[in-house]
Order: sequence, then structure tokens, then C-alpha cells
Amino acid sequence: MCGIIGYVGYQNATPILVDGLRRLEYRGYDSAGVAIISADGKTHIHRAVGKLRNLDTVLREHPLTGSLGIGHTRWATHGRPTEENAHPHTIDGVTIVHNGILENYLELRHMLEARDRQFRSETDTEIMAHLIAEQIAKGHALDEAVRSILPQVRGTYALVVISESHPNTIVTAKNASPIVLGLGDNENFVASDIPACLEYTRSFVFLEDGQMAILRPKDISITDFEGNQQIVEPTTVTWSPIMAEKGGHKHFMHKEIYEQPTAVANTILGRVSMEDATIHLDGVNPEHIDPIDRLIITACGTSWHAGLIGKFMLEHIARIPVEVDLASEFRYRDPILDNKTGLLAISQSGETADTLGAVKDAKAAHAVVFGICNVIGSSIARECKNSGGVLYTHAGLEIGVASTKAFVTQLVALFLLAIHFGRKRGTLSITDGQDHLNRLREIPSHIESILAREASLIAIARRYARAKDFLFLGRGPNYPVALEGALKLKEISYIHAEGYAAGEMKHGPIALVDEHVPIVGIATAGPSYQKTISNLEEVRARNGKLIIIASEGDSRIASVADDVFVIPKTTPLLDPLLSVVPLQLLAYHIADAKGTDIDQPRNLAKSVTVE
Ligand code: F6R
Repeated sequence: MCGIIGYVGYQNATPILVDGLRRLEYRGYDSAGVAIISADGKTHIHRAVGKLRNLDTVLREHPLTGSLGIGHTRWATHGRPTEENAHPHTIDGVTIVHNGILENYLELRHMLEARDRQFRSETDTEIMAHLIAEQIAKGHALDEAVRSILPQVRGTYALVVISESHPNTIVTAKNASPIVLGLGDNENFVASDIPACLEYTRSFVFLEDGQMAILRPKDISITDFEGNQQIVEPTTVTWSPIMAEKGGHKHFMHKEIYEQPTAVANTILGRVSMEDATIHLDGVNPEHIDPIDRLIITACGTSWHAGLIGKFMLEHIARIPVEVDLASEFRYRDPILDNKTGLLAISQSGETADTLGAVKDAKAAHAVVFGICNVIGSSIARECKNSGGVLYTHAGLEIGVASTKAFVTQLVALFLLAIHFGRKRGTLSITDGQDHLNRLREIPSHIESILAREASLIAIARRYARAKDFLFLGRGPNYPVALEGALKLKEISYIHAEGYAAGEMKHGPIALVDEHVPIVGIATAGPSYQKTISNLEEVRARNGKLIIIASEGDSRIASVADDVFVIPKTTPLLDPLLSVVPLQLLAYHIADAKGTDIDQPRNLAKSVTVE
């Protein structure tokens, strides 16, 4: 994620930058930094690891003054969260902050090292500082220098660049990561998000992908990457600063549900080679994981649900035997482990005590431990590093306690792992692999199309918000989705909810069914469809109210259900990435109708560091 800000004007830039970073801190807080060009024309930089308050302390002890500057709050992607890796990065008078990930950074780094360029950090960002500095040294203006290097860099970026050679100018460029320009009187702002400068202006321009801007105190000029002038109308924003921190959403959970298309795309980004359907598992050590002949997945809560779905993916695609264990149980059941067993830990935070404990125990028993984590440099990630490694989900900072985008991106990571093992183990042909990957790449737009129909889920939520109990039913990969739907509902709305394998109903739970218990069935197209429908018919025959998530084009479903929500057609293994989204929104809107504290539900914490 990362938050970036820049100011050029007549006021002292430092307090404006720090205030802006405070409002952007939700985007990451591994480290923060500011750079100021002061009246002497020199760049002065302070950076500090950890939350912004650490940088604040440094700035109180060593104040910086100047009317042009840039700042950054980091959510580490390339390179650990250290002071050297903290932004801004400065090379030969050129200083840069960056939000995004460069895919070809290794290639570029090797090219620059061959030209005797010395690197001070492990980041992909520093590469761009070197490239721009080389252009400035050749006599180019700052905007020309930035424009000339962009064709070389592949990946996502929002850049903000300043240079001692142009002490009155900020240049910014955007590809896939957000940039807004704040228009002031004799001062201008650039930031990742509106809240960063909402104290100073309500007039904003949203840069589009492929656009650059040159900011000076009295003017802003916007061009495309070829230098053609762009005519852009500013937007006047009426948000309050508090709302804007959530990007206009009422809760972080809602915002994070809406971030899922981008999060999924980021998990896939740079990892897929379509020609031969191979996967580049950056951070994972193939020499360790490839020889395993058996896999145990361990996790807690929502991440465990992802693991249960991962079992379907890995067994079907790679024919590798998989067990899935709750980390809190795994540790106390004397599991059989050896150096041919892989222990895959799934954790958003990378700090969950039971999952971390399971990793340590498995490592001590010589299993190959590896992880799927969201938080860079977290304890589980570090523990796995010198064994099987870690596959980061790159979902961005998740603030809402109820996990949403982390779950969907864990499923993407598991799917990529299944394809990797399938190709290595010879169970997946290139053509079938390409087919799977093409379907995977459609997921972001499928999620968009579900989000666009949120209104019908609000209507369903209002109809059922007073229920005291819910049941969620599914079969195959949709059974863990039922568990996840029930967990989302209970944790944020405090309504009792249970997830069941639909085929198990008649072995006991069907006794609970009456007209007061809404039942959410997940009945998407696939091998379990007929059987699921029969189980749902049995519930209907006992007066149960049925809300069914079905695949587009299912003409039969309306006659079975009281309410239907259709999702786009994909493959059964990828269905969970879509079917969970309406369940997240259903839980969210039921909780909202009840007025609970959605982002911080009672008794819960985002990161569970006790056993
Ligand atoms: C539920 C939820 C929790 C977490 C669980 C594990 O919405 O978020 O169930 O999934 O506490 O957390 P991580 O993934 O950080 O290990």
C-alpha cells in the first residue's frame, strides 16, 4: 500500500507533510520519512522505522524547514522495514517516494550495478532515483527526466519526485497506484488519497493511469507519458476528513470488500508466465518445497477456511495429499512430520500465536515450513524464510477486524501454488494450466460485477436482519465458503450462525430448521450442484427460508429459493473467490442495520498473539 504526499507553496512544508502522513497511516506504518528542499537549495531527509510518532520525535529534535517537500508512510513490499529501506530515497540530489511494486526491478538493478551505481537500500524504488538522476546529469529538466525513464519500468507506481536542480517543482506519475492533486492558492499538493490534504483544499484532480503532473506553487500542468497536454476538470469534494480516511466508505470493512478486485490483481501481478503456465513464486524457495510429497496446511479462523479451500485446489490440480489443521489443534496432536512433509501456514497478520507456534514445532521436526502471509516481515514470514519461504498476498493493509480481502487473496495464492505444484509434478498440462490462469485473471472483473449489484444484497439483508440464527450450507469447495459466511455474520452482527456441509443436514442439524431460521445455500454450477439443490429442497420442505448464491444462467434456482443472488460463471475451484463476496456484503449490511461496531467488533482483535 504505502501513503505518499508532496507540498510546494509558501508555507513550511514539514508540518503539512507530517499531518498528511498521519491521515495516510492506515495505508501502512512500517516506517515513515520526509524530505525537504530548504532555502539553501539542499535536500534534508529524516526517516524512522515504525509508526509516524517515531518520525515526529526525530523531527521535534531536528526540525526541517522549507517550502517544498515530500513524505511517505511505508507498508513494506520490497525490502524489510528498516531505516535504509524507508522512503524518501535520494540519489545525487534527486529524491523520490513511491507507492507500488516494480516487476522488473532485479533486471534494472543488475543493469545499473553494471554501470557502477551503488545501492543503499533493498527497495525497487531506489532504482528509479538512479535512473532519474542519470537523466538530470545529462541536463534534462525534471519532468523530461521522469518521462524518459518510465518506458523502462514495469509494474505499478505512484511516484513523487523532487530534485535540487529544480527547487520549485514536484513531478508525479501514475500507473495503477492512486494519485490525487490538491489545488490551493499559491500552493499545491499531491497525495495518495484525499484526506492527506483535505485540511488545506477541497479542490482535487484525480490522475489517471498514464498521466504525469508538474506542480509549482502557482500552477499545475498535466500531461500523458508522451508529454501531450491533458485538460482535466477539478472535482470539489464535500467529504469530512474522517469519512475520507475510509475513502468515502462508512467502514474500513466495506472499503476493503471494495478493494478486492485490486487486491486479487496485485496477488497475481508479476507471478504468472502464460507461455508455459509456470508460476514465479517470489519469496518461496522452490528447491525446498518442490520435493515434498505431502502437505499439511495450518491456520486459524478465516485463514483456516482459505486452507480448506486450498486442499481442493492442491489435490485436484497437483494430486498432492493435503491435510488441513486448525493451528491450535495441530500443535497438540503429535503430528507425523518429516523432511518430505510441507507445513504451509496461512496468516494475514503473520503474527497469530498458534500458527506461529505450529510453524516452530514443524520446523523443529524437520518439516519444510512455508507461509502465505499478508504482512511483510511478520514473525511467521521471518520464521519460514530460511526453509520453504513465504508467498506474500500483497492485499494491502487490512484494518477491519473481519478479514475480507486477505481471505480472497489467500485463495489466489493457494491457486498459484496448486498450479506451481501441478506443473512441477507433471499433473497439469500447459494448456490446462493456461486455462486455469485465464480464468484466474478474470476474477477481478467478476468481483467488480458482484459489487455493482450491492443494492440487492442490502434489500436481502434488511429482510433478514432480525433473525436470531442463520445456517450456511455448501458442498465441495463451497462448504468452507459456508463456514466463512457464518463466521463473517456472527463476528460483526453478533447473530448466531453455523456453517454446515449441506449433505450433513439430515444427520442432525435439520432439526433446527423452521420458518424463523434463514438458510443461506451456496449452489454454484459444478459436480456438487445437483446434490446441493436436493439438500436445499429438503430444507425448503421444512419451511426454511432460503437465500441462494447461484451461478449466472441457472434457470431452475428461482423456483427453489426465496431470494437469489447470482455470481458470474467461473470454474468450481475458483467459485469460492466469488461466492464469498455476496456473503461478506450480506454480513456487513445485516450488521450495519443492527448498528454494531463493524470495524472493531466486541471481544476481538485484528492480530491474535495469545494462544
Ligand atoms: C475473521 C478473522 C480471523 C482471522 C484469524 C487468523 O474475520 O479475521 O478469524 O482470520 O484470527 O488471523 P491471521 O490470518 O492474521 O493469522
